[in-house]
Amino acid sequence: MNPVVLTATVIFFIFAFVILFGAPYLPTMKKQSEEALDMLALKPGQTMLELGCGDGRVAKAAARRGLKVVGYELNPILALIAWLQTLKYRGQVKIVWGNYWRQDWPDCDGIFVFLLDKYMKKLDKKIVQKKQQQAKPIRLLSYTFLVPGRKTSAQKGALFLYKY
Ligand SMILES: C[S@@+](CC[C@H](N)C(=O)[O-])C[C@H]1O[C@@H](n2cnc3c(N)ncnc32)[C@H](O)[C@@H]1O
Repeated sequence: MNPVVLTATVIFFIFAFVILFGAPYLPTMKKQSEEALDMLALKPGQTMLELGCGDGRVAKAAARRGLKVVGYELNPILALIAWLQTLKYRGQVKIVWGNYWRQDWPDCDGIFVFLLDKYMKKLDKKIVQKKQQQAKPIRLLSYTFLVPGRKTSAQKGALFLYKY
C-alpha cells in the first residue's frame, strides 16, 4: 500500500476506534474553555480532571490559572499532542494515555467534560462513587450535555455546572 494512504488509514482508525469508548474528538473553543474555567471557579493549587483532554487546550488554559490538571486521553496521537502542549506546565499537568472509565481518578476539586449524551448517566454514577471516596466536594462542568436527573448549579449557554 502507498505509505501516504497507509498513514492516513492508520490515523483514521486511531480517531475512529475511540468512538467505541467515548466522544469523538471535537475541541472546545477558547471562549468556551475560558467561560467553563470561570464557572468551575477552582483556586490555584486545586485539582481538575479532564476526561478526554483532546489536544490539551483546556488543560493548558487551566494550568495557566494555576490549577493542577490530570487529563485522560485514549487517542495516542492526541495524548502526545496534549503532552507536548502542556510540557511547559509539567509540574502541574499530567497527561494520562488511557481510558478514563478504567482509571482510578485521584481526589479532585473539579472535572471538565465534553462527552456525549449517552455517557452522561455513567459519568454521574462514577462521580457519585468518587465523591464517596473523598471528603471535599466535586464541581463538574459539562460542555453541551446535561446530566439526566440532576439539577444544574449554574448554566451559561451550553455550559452546565453541577455540584456533588
Ligand atoms: C469532544 S472531545 C473533547 C476534547 C477536549 N476535552 C476539549 O474540550 O477540547 C472528546 C475527547 O475524549 C477522548 N475520549 C473519548 N473517549 C475516551 C475515553 N474513554 N478515555 C479517554 N479519552 C477518551 C477523545 O479522543 C476526544 O479527544
